[in-house]
Amino acid sequence: MDLDAFVRALPKAELHLHIEGSLEPEMMFELACRNGVALPWDSVEATRAAYAFSDLQSFLDLYYAGAAALIQERDFFDLAMAYFERAHADGVVHAELFFDPQTHTARGIAFETVLDGLERACGEAQARWGISSRLILCFLRHLSEEDGLATLQQALPHLARIHGVGLDSSEKGHPPSKFLRLFARCRELGLHIVAHAGEEGPPAYIVEALDLLGVERIDHGVRAAEDAALMARLAREQVALTVCPLSNVKLCVFQRLEQHNLKQLLDAGLKVTINSDDPAYFGGYIAQNYVDTARALGLSRVELKRIARNSLEASFVPEALRQPWF
Ligand code: HPA
Ligand code: ZN
Repeated sequence: MDLDAFVRALPKAELHLHIEGSLEPEMMFELACRNGVALPWDSVEATRAAYAFSDLQSFLDLYYAGAAALIQERDFFDLAMAYFERAHADGVVHAELFFDPQTHTARGIAFETVLDGLERACGEAQARWGISSRLILCFLRHLSEEDGLATLQQALPHLARIHGVGLDSSEKGHPPSKFLRLFARCRELGLHIVAHAGEEGPPAYIVEALDLLGVERIDHGVRAAEDAALMARLAREQVALTVCPLSNVKLCVFQRLEQHNLKQLLDAGLKVTINSDDPAYFGGYIAQNYVDTARALGLSRVELKRIARNSLEASFVPEALRQPWF
């Protein structure tokens, strides 16, 4: 079996996927047209050509501009369905989707519009492809904690439909400690907790995410390699890292995939998973991330199986509800 077929056949969970980051330029233009929204680019080709990033912020500027095409409930539904179709083709059996409500509510879109569309797609994906899914509300860390608390207030009537919370957007200068009260409240509400940390930010942000926010997984976390004590702790506590190799190269965290430290993290005993982050912007969905990383780092099929198994084990599906492939 060739590598691509092997990877697609592996049952896997995607644990780090921003649904707004799966908005392909073709759909962006289709939605912008049907909603009468102006985009900063003239064409699909010009949009793709603009996807040359120097760091996280240069990507986020475009990512937020593209999200402006999303207005109606059915836009969020269509967006998530397009993602699930690709995920199914890649062998994803379970997906935990990040969504950024503040990106939409700040433009006057109702919180419910976003959630209703995404949740309807989750139900449809289960019915059509048997994919289970969860929704994780991400707070934008470049905004204030008060803004996050107001967003949590909007989410309160819908907590049965939201399984966890995360922290994303510009990392540098916005440490986890900025959101201490917000995440304490989320923990009291029984939500699962994750946070982006150690993508561009220092290892100390990973420690803060663990100790101050109480995260159950670290999103990215690759800069943990700079702190030996932290590496030992992550291995000992088996904290899952949701690593996104193609994203890391596109955002210049590593200059080339061959220089990525994923194998180093794996060899140190960390619970590493592979995910796509924002696949429409970074040039590949989850299977592509597995295949390209395996080729660049010489990962064996045993290691790829381990990574896929890690993803299932690190998911937020309770033991009692796990399907046979878990
Ligand atoms: N990092 C931080 N924020 C994000 C990302 C990311 O990789 N993708 C979308 N929002
Ligand atoms: Zn991310």
